[in-house]
Amino acid sequence: MIQKFNHANKINGGLKLAGDKSISHRAVMFASLADGISEIRNCLLSEDVISTIHAFKKLGCEIDIIDQIVKISGLGFLGLRKPIDSLYLGNSGTTTRLLSGILAAQKFESLLTGDDSLSRRPMNRIIEPLNLMGADITGSRDGTLPLLIRPSKKLKSIQYKMPIASAQVKSSILLLGLHLEDTTEIIEETPTRNHTENMLGLEVVNVDQKKIIRVSRRNYPEPFDLDVPSDISTAAFFIVLGLLADNCELTLYNVLLNETRTGVLQILKEMGGDITLSNIEKLNGEKRGDLIVRSSELKNIKIDKRLIPNIIDEIPILAAAGFFADGEFEIRNAEELRHKESDRIKSICSNFKNNNIPIVEFADGFKIEECKIPPTGKFNSFGDHRIAMTFSIVSMLFKNGGEVNGFECCAVSNPHFIDQINSIVKF
Ligand code: S3P
Repeated sequence: MIQKFNHANKINGGLKLAGDKSISHRAVMFASLADGISEIRNCLLSEDVISTIHAFKKLGCEIDIIDQIVKISGLGFLGLRKPIDSLYLGNSGTTTRLLSGILAAQKFESLLTGDDSLSRRPMNRIIEPLNLMGADITGSRDGTLPLLIRPSKKLKSIQYKMPIASAQVKSSILLLGLHLEDTTEIIEETPTRNHTENMLGLEVVNVDQKKIIRVSRRNYPEPFDLDVPSDISTAAFFIVLGLLADNCELTLYNVLLNETRTGVLQILKEMGGDITLSNIEKLNGEKRGDLIVRSSELKNIKIDKRLIPNIIDEIPILAAAGFFADGEFEIRNAEELRHKESDRIKSICSNFKNNNIPIVEFADGFKIEECKIPPTGKFNSFGDHRIAMTFSIVSMLFKNGGEVNGFECCAVSNPHFIDQINSIVKF
């Protein structure tokens, strides 16, 4: 589907976005593991989180959605039931990798499949550490889906130094460790999002810039009630639109402000973005607050490589901000972008290049150069929700607007994007 966008003339009003995707996935998973009833408010109900919900329904959990509240009857320690057929996980890498850690501990066999994009994504990064713990997981020959997870003969805890900065890999190991009596220890050199640690109340020790994270069966979740703060990665699209459009005063309510996720705010503020935080509070273990965004003049800055995992999902929209800002935008040390819902380095470079915007591609990033001829506005989503939304924002900032082909994948993380845009933008 081709979605057209006109130039945004004025932005005004407020948005209360749905819950954070990473927290929503984990909330559904941990509530399903706990023994009893949990309630999740403001849970994101996008295609990805629905993949998680469907998987746990197939694993025997009762899950009802009433008035936007997700009510889950969890099955307790090793209480999940053998699914009658394979678990189809759509586009969701988070579901696949975290669920693999959980399923590796169960006494039944399961088979995980997904869409074309998910079926291309690397799974050896979880197969190897989980099998080191005694799991019995086989992927296809090139380390991709389908994953066959058989009951293990004997599981054991490990000490594991993370070879890549990935919260999904870290969480997958922690979730298998959650089922073992002995303590599993992860050593993380570059910090990544810490929602699994926060939500399970894990012990985290800082030693010489490294984090040591410990988990065992003692951390197994109890039923809970949770209010999920709004997704900062989704908010990032509206923040960049608001900063770069003329005549903007926009409030985004109750946005997640966990420090492993706020790199995007830090960078946009350093670039000159007028973003004010108010009503900051900590609720259910996560900091959150309202953001007020006003039109600003942005200039590019050097992005510190330690921040890359913190901004990994926001790099596409930060690149869009960088294109409109003064100076050249360059991002390096971001090879992980090649393993997301699309190869995001390629998707971003193709969209810029195909619209007269010079860009230099590197193995681990790209540099956007000065645009000497007027850019056109015909973009492709490459089936990737964050690419679809990034170039929707770029289109709205072009004088003559633009369009995004394959826009429908936006529903993977935000099915309400168009309604939200229409409620705050005057075209
Ligand atoms: C996520 C972790 C990140 C991120 C993804 C969600 C999570 O992936 O890109 O959208 O919820 O743990 P990696 O940990 O693989 O970088």
